[in-house]
Amino acid sequence: MDYDIKDINLAEEGKNKIEWADNNMPVLRKIREDFEREKPLKGVRIAACLHVTTETANLMRTLKAGGAEIALTASNPLSTQDYTAAALVKEYGISVFAIKGEDNDTYYKHIDSALSIKPMITMDDGADLVSTIHTKKRDLLEHIIGGTEETTTGVIRLVSMAKQKVLEYPIIAVNNAMTKHFFDNRYGTGQSSLDGILRATNVLIAGLNFVVAGYGWCGKGVAMRAKGAGARVIITEIDPIKALEASMDGFWVLPMEEAAKIGDIFLTVTGNKNVISEEHFKLMKDGAIVANSGHFNVEINLEALEKIAVSKREVRQFVKEYKLPNGNRVNILADGRLVNLSAAEGHPAMVMDMSFANQALSALHILNHHKEIGKTVIDVPEHIDRNIAKLKLETMGIDIDTLTPEQEEYLSGWQEGT
Ligand code: NAD
Ligand code: ADE
Repeated sequence: MDYDIKDINLAEEGKNKIEWADNNMPVLRKIREDFEREKPLKGVRIAACLHVTTETANLMRTLKAGGAEIALTASNPLSTQDYTAAALVKEYGISVFAIKGEDNDTYYKHIDSALSIKPMITMDDGADLVSTIHTKKRDLLEHIIGGTEETTTGVIRLVSMAKQKVLEYPIIAVNNAMTKHFFDNRYGTGQSSLDGILRATNVLIAGLNFVVAGYGWCGKGVAMRAKGAGARVIITEIDPIKALEASMDGFWVLPMEEAAKIGDIFLTVTGNKNVISEEHFKLMKDGAIVANSGHFNVEINLEALEKIAVSKREVRQFVKEYKLPNGNRVNILADGRLVNLSAAEGHPAMVMDMSFANQALSALHILNHHKEIGKTVIDVPEHIDRNIAKLKLETMGIDIDTLTPEQEEYLSGWQEGT
């Protein structure tokens, strides 16, 4: 079996942590048990480009239990847990090509290695597999029946490909499932981004001005948790409706140019580029902390910061201090890469359980329905989404009511009024 990881001797630590995560992934575990029995993915080759975490390991175990042959590569150069990669290879017999801190060339070399299995299904987080296949490895297209996509930025890229009629196979947008973005993007990113900032800096959040750029699903979660930790939360937005929502949720809404002057901590989570740029760095207070949880490392203009800084040094792991000509220092966390996966462990297993249940069942749906879907991006079928919600509630021991026949009739009629 082919692989490229940091150190196979980390496998025992990885196995313990993968099993720990599995304890909080009951929905995925149930799917794994069904897959084990029925082998619905027998002989299916899957290339996956996902953050190599303990939660991802449990998804890989599930696909393998279903009979799939898998190659896993990282979806970010800083998000790999080397112990997880080691355990996947040694304990679970899965090909992994990922090393935490790999440079850009190695990142793409690893994508090429994963693609060497000639996948029938691609499983992406950010659409790097799809874009590599469509630009540099078109010979692989003949084997591919479809794919899945985990995150907002990946879905945006794929929808753009479909609109331009260059997408060559069907993709299920896992991110768009209610049981994904309602929980993973909001509560997952909310908690794990603060976790990343805290592990990197150990600052007290209470009393600080915490600027969140973007009040989408992730931004709402981060704002909620920063407020809970005692920060004064400031939101920056470009969408008037989201800005209004942030304001009525009780947050202070400002343009970045104003927020830059008063923020102590900045977190970008927009999926957009240059949200914090040269002019904003120049306005920041001494000691400002700047991080990103959006998918790509383009939200903070580091190139501009590198140009204007008079010096740069690493002051703690994952913290680089840049000194500006005005004497102020700006601290960039994790080189502007996803702070929750670089400086912490990403979202907890409890929430990834639903995201990855969607991935496993979407891979199966692609296998069984790819011919009907066409070369486009579709949502996770509603019955899959609702079933995952039902299973998750069951595993949490939460019962809910069901409609009575009288209520069903009332809700489907129009005659009854005051
Ligand atoms: P979303 O579309 O729900 O929200 C993004 C928000 O950013 C929107 O409200 C948009 O109006 C706003 N925005 C865009 N440009 C802006 C700008 N220049 N200034 C201020 N606001 C701006 O998306 P989301 O689901 O919240 O995802 C955001 C990013 O986070 C994406 O890149 C996504 O892939 C990524 N993501 C990361 C994690 C993680 O683990 N770190 C998890 C899920 C999603
Ligand atoms: N994205 C965010 N958190 C994650 C995790 N724990 N595993 C895989 N992908 C993630």
